[in-house]
Amino acid sequence: MDPVRLIIDTDPGVDDAIAILMALASPDVQVMGLTTVGGNVSAARATRNALAILQAAGRSDIPVAKGASQPLRDRYSYSPQFHGPEGLSLSLPEPESVTVAEGAVQFLYDQLTRELGEAVLVALGPLTNVARLLWERPIALEQAKNIVVMGGAVNCPGNVTPAAEFNIHSDPVAAEIVLSSGLPITLVDLAACRQVWIAREQAMALDSKHPQGRLAVDMLQGWFRLEPSRERFEFYDPLALAIALEPAIATVVKVDLDVGLDENELWGATAESGGPGEITLPMTVDRARFFSLLERLLELEGLEIK
Ligand code: BDR
Ligand code: CA
Repeated sequence: MDPVRLIIDTDPGVDDAIAILMALASPDVQVMGLTTVGGNVSAARATRNALAILQAAGRSDIPVAKGASQPLRDRYSYSPQFHGPEGLSLSLPEPESVTVAEGAVQFLYDQLTRELGEAVLVALGPLTNVARLLWERPIALEQAKNIVVMGGAVNCPGNVTPAAEFNIHSDPVAAEIVLSSGLPITLVDLAACRQVWIAREQAMALDSKHPQGRLAVDMLQGWFRLEPSRERFEFYDPLALAIALEPAIATVVKVDLDVGLDENELWGATAESGGPGEITLPMTVDRARFFSLLERLLELEGLEIK
């Protein structure tokens, strides 16, 4: 079987890092490149973190292209309280490699049009780069084999405001452009992600002898150490990555969505606007299947969740 050709748009981020490590660890995946975007941290920091993760994983051969440092409107509000001041729960060595010359939008265009119908795009941060690509090079995303986005709180409470999820709230204008494009996007929202979590005690008991698995375990355990009151870690970006690799992990419905653009309490909210539509929304997640994929890819030892 040909490997899945994956491009990851990301703002690492602890859960972004774990998702990237899952992709790197998979024998069935070829990571074509990472594009970065501001979100959890600044775009400069996200880019440094992406390079550092690849270096620590022994995969500095994978290109990194730097993307948007501002959303289409306003400014990003970073998330140091959740991911740690530098975005990762571990202090990784400074990367020796540098980004490719082209920016994220050009890189995405090049990869998607070179790999006609073959590349899978997984977007794990604010949708600024993806919206810009749609705006500047409208045909490129039509060439993707699949587009999976982590974002939104469709029929559940948000995690930034009562109505909005972080990635969509960070750039609702971009999200509206992407989600109203008619492209067949899978939106892995908070309601799906909250079904897959690990408790502190279970996370602290994990081990792995696989290099990328060990790094992911260190990242996860480091996140719990950042704040002693933390009780559970929800696998947001790793679930989006898992659904990109194994769509049958979740049941789905087809919907249309509106993104809240009024600068009030609905800023960045994602609400169903009718259906059936073009957006695939995961509903019930097969937890056992998700955790068995996680366990297999990262060669986890001591995982008790089934
Ligand atoms: C999303 O926001 C970020 O903090 C995480 O990396 C994830 O992409 C969850 O709302
Ligand atoms: Ca993210």
